[in-house]
This record gives sequence, structure tokens and C-alpha cells, in this order.
Amino acid sequence: MEVVITTADEIGDLIADEIAALVASAPETVLGVATGSSPLRVYEALGRRVSAGELSLARARAFTLDEYVGLPAGHPARYDAVIREEFVARVDIDPAAVRGPDGDADDLDAACRRYEDEIRGAGGIDLQILGIGTDGHIAFNEPGSSLASRTRVKTLTAQTRLDNARFFDGDLDAVPRHCLTQGLGTILEARRIVLVATGEAKAQAVAQLVEGAVSARWPGTVLQHHPDVTVFVDEAAASQLELSDYYRDTRAHRSLVQ
Ligand code: F6R
Repeated sequence: MEVVITTADEIGDLIADEIAALVASAPETVLGVATGSSPLRVYEALGRRVSAGELSLARARAFTLDEYVGLPAGHPARYDAVIREEFVARVDIDPAAVRGPDGDADDLDAACRRYEDEIRGAGGIDLQILGIGTDGHIAFNEPGSSLASRTRVKTLTAQTRLDNARFFDGDLDAVPRHCLTQGLGTILEARRIVLVATGEAKAQAVAQLVEGAVSARWPGTVLQHHPDVTVFVDEAAASQLELSDYYRDTRAHRSLVQ
């Protein structure tokens, strides 16, 4: 696992550069996109490149990680709506090529199976963007999630509902209790994973993710089993890493082995 400690702005540009390089070699790249605050600078940086004519995602496809259960179409906090506003509207990807699990389906289990089939049918995800929750979740795989889980219904923790109340005008009661989420096993099948975490509130989850023991208590730790992960953090999110000097040193001298 590679750890890059830098500024939030540089994180956006570094990941956008990587996506641009990927799309240049494979225009039909399949991206995995996250909602929430963490990836916003990446989407802004991608938008700048598309506006400048340096990048086109016209032939790319994208899959979201998760969705609240029970929010009707048109609800502004639905992740489908959020990803369209934050990502799709900024770039030139075909809106129909951006897919997410249907949290408003009558049969949620069937919707989860259908979503797994869709991802598989697209050939899997080439590059997955992740954030991490303060309780260590990735996608909405809350503590206690099976490390081999697939897309399914999950119950959100009280902490996650509290953290996300800001997307519901601060109204905790309006935050759904359930979601559909790609499983940890699903996420591990992405060929490349980049995770973004900024701010002091993420410091413990980041330290566990990178240096903790792999366990369902901190679901992000499962990424230690993936062969190609980079964790991008700012100074605050890196503040509880014991080996931060080593990660800085590694990055500073990377060119000597590349
Ligand atoms: C969102 C998602 C979540 C968020 C996490 C961090 O699709 O899957 O895992 O990445 O809750 O959220 P922010 O970035 O808002 O702190």
C-alpha cells in the first residue's frame, strides 16, 4: 500500500492525472466513483481538464459505490442525484453510462444482485475512488462487515448517520437507516484503488486502515489485501500514522526506482 501525504488540492490533481493517463490508454475505462466530500476535488480537477479539452470521458463508464434505501427519485441527497451533480455535470461522460444500485427498488436483494451483474458485465472496475468514514467504513461497509461481502443491504451506524446529517440540512431523523452498498469483496475486485481522506476526523480511521490489524472492526483494513492501492491524505488525516516519515521518504525518493 502506498501512502501519499500532501495537500487536499494536490490530491485532486494527482488522481485526475492518473485517470487522464488511464483514459488516454483505454478510453472505455470503467471508473468506480464515490460520493461525499472526499472526492470533490478530484471531480473538480477532472472537470477542469475536460473543459480545457485535455481529457474526454465520453467513452468511459462509471459505477457508484452505494445508495440510501428509500429515498425517492429526485431526492437531492440520493447518491444518484449527488453523483450527477458533482461528477457527471462537470465532465462529458454519457449520463446513461453512470450506474448505481437502486435503493428504491421493491426487491432490494434482487437490485443488489443486478448491480453485481452490471459491474461484471462491464468487465469490472479499472480504477475505484474511495473515501473513508470516521468509523472506518469504505463504501457503506460498516464495522462488522464481512471482509468477503458482496453488494447488499446494510444498516448505517449512528456515527455515519450523524456524520451525514449535514447532507440532510442537519436533520438526523431524515437520514435513512439503511443503504445498499458494494461489498468489501466487490471493492477488492477493482484493478486499482485510490482512497482520499482529509481532516483530523479521519486520522484514526486512516491509521487503522494503513497500519492496523486487518479486521471487520475497521473495514477499510481489508485494502491491505489489495495489490494496488494508494491512500492520499492531508497532514491532518495523516496525523496518527506511526510511519509517516517513512511514507514521505518513500515518495521523495520514488524517482530513483522508476
Ligand atoms: C460514499 C461512500 C462513503 C464515503 C465516506 C466518507 O459513496 O461510500 O464511504 O466515502 O462516508 O465521506 P466524506 O467523504 O463525506 O467524509
